[in-house]
Amino acid sequence: MDFSAAGVTFAVLVLTVVLLVRSWRRKGRLSRLPPGPPALPFLGNALQIDKRAPDQSLIKLSRKYGPVFTVWLGPRPAVVLCGFETVKEALVDRADDFGARGTVPSIRKVTNGYGIASSNGHRSCLLRRFAVATLRDFGKGNKTPEDFVRQEAEHLVEVVRKTKESPFDPTFLLTCATANIMCAIVFGNRFDYTDAKLLTLLGMITENMRVISSPWGQLYDLLPNLLDYLPGPHNRLFENAAKIKSFLREMIQNHKDKHTKGSTPKDFIDSFLIKMEEEKDDPNSEFNDENLLLSTFNIFLAGTDTTSSTMRWGLLLFLKYPEVQEKIQSEIDKVIGSNRTPTIADREKMPYTNAVIHEIQRYSNIIPLNLPHTVSRDTEFRGFMIPKGMIVIPLLASVLYDSSCWERPESFNPDHFLDEKGQMKENEAFMPFSAGKRMCIGEAVAQMQLFLFLTTLLQNFTLRSLTGPNTIDITPLSSGFSTLHRPYQLYCVPRKSA
Ligand code: HEM
Repeated sequence: MDFSAAGVTFAVLVLTVVLLVRSWRRKGRLSRLPPGPPALPFLGNALQIDKRAPDQSLIKLSRKYGPVFTVWLGPRPAVVLCGFETVKEALVDRADDFGARGTVPSIRKVTNGYGIASSNGHRSCLLRRFAVATLRDFGKGNKTPEDFVRQEAEHLVEVVRKTKESPFDPTFLLTCATANIMCAIVFGNRFDYTDAKLLTLLGMITENMRVISSPWGQLYDLLPNLLDYLPGPHNRLFENAAKIKSFLREMIQNHKDKHTKGSTPKDFIDSFLIKMEEEKDDPNSEFNDENLLLSTFNIFLAGTDTTSSTMRWGLLLFLKYPEVQEKIQSEIDKVIGSNRTPTIADREKMPYTNAVIHEIQRYSNIIPLNLPHTVSRDTEFRGFMIPKGMIVIPLLASVLYDSSCWERPESFNPDHFLDEKGQMKENEAFMPFSAGKRMCIGEAVAQMQLFLFLTTLLQNFTLRSLTGPNTIDITPLSSGFSTLHRPYQLYCVPRKSA
């Protein structure tokens, strides 16, 4: 036998073994998985999923295979949940079964199962409860998160004023503003927009968001064992994560050096250190250095780009629909006027603005695939069996665009959140923060930022595009981990009354 014949025989043998093992496994543990498209060995359904819009490919597959179906992400199966009813049934009605965090290789490599977002079981319950309480009680008797956001909104207005009506891309300024809110919460201080430390940190966060949303990021999660040995942009993810962690370690050490027993906590790190001190004699305590580092890492990353990206979508939509911008400005003039800055108490009296912000979040669909979930035990769901530990994708894009819940899901339409009297109308399918046991812990802080930053900007400026609204493209550039808008520039004209 020559070498090429031997090679072909070997390949056929490997393929046969793989197919046999797969069919054996399917007959066993995976035999009652939901249906799904036929998968190739090793690649799974990778060729059927558009790397630039995986959420759209999954929605398309659900039209053929139903609201609960299986896709193979490389060699691993995952169950996809599609549409409001299905996602709600799993995450809310069956929260105990579907509330665990699924791990994907990139996240596992960075976090090793520590921190709020990547942990499970007892650890995640304790860390979540602690973080939610700290965010809620934060600033009692001191500066509240609202004070921080209002102060930051004023800084933002001052920096925008300096652009003197010349065009700029708002990404940098908005990311500085939202990062500073996370800095205030986690470290107790803000940075100047020219501070070298802040700029380096933001550069790394923005690059990681781009890489993780790119085909490279998705490829890494499909074939980590192979990509760990290959050069490519995916390696930047881990280099940046290591640098962000070392920056956070330095901030934590500064807090430890300055921390005095019995002092009032000023920020998340202080509160965590107090808890560590209280539990220092318990060898099983979850309040340890590793969970502190990874929890601050989670809050910082989860809270910065998400809120900034939503605001960037918001400004783009104001440029596309100037009439929406005008209506918000008249509500601002009526309720707030020009002699004081907006407060969160104003939101209740501003149903139109509130509805527009909800619709910006629905339309921009910034975390289309959600974070991965898993089931905490073998789980029967709609007649199928999902084995413990299997990745579950509760597809948020399919909820935010579910045509049975929204009148015109494909259009940007603030009326989705307004009743006939022009009052705010809630909709259960509004799930940009997901739902159930792993729902975003930063919802209140994020919504406060969206309201205060956007109203303060529109109180002071009218936003204009360089080209006419008709030429503005509001379709996404790509949607991997996050839905990215197309790059744009705007200029800000000071309002006469401001
Ligand atoms: C518009 C802004 C935001 C959006 C759209 C958003 C969305 C999400 C989503 C979809 C999840 C996954 C939920 C799930 O697994 O079911 C999540 C988790 C999380 N978010 Fe947010 N988020 C935002 C802002 C924030 C902010 C400001 C913070 C911090 C104060 C934050 C902290 C977290 C954390 C720590 C988790 C992990 C929770 C867990 O695993 O238990 N997020 N977020």
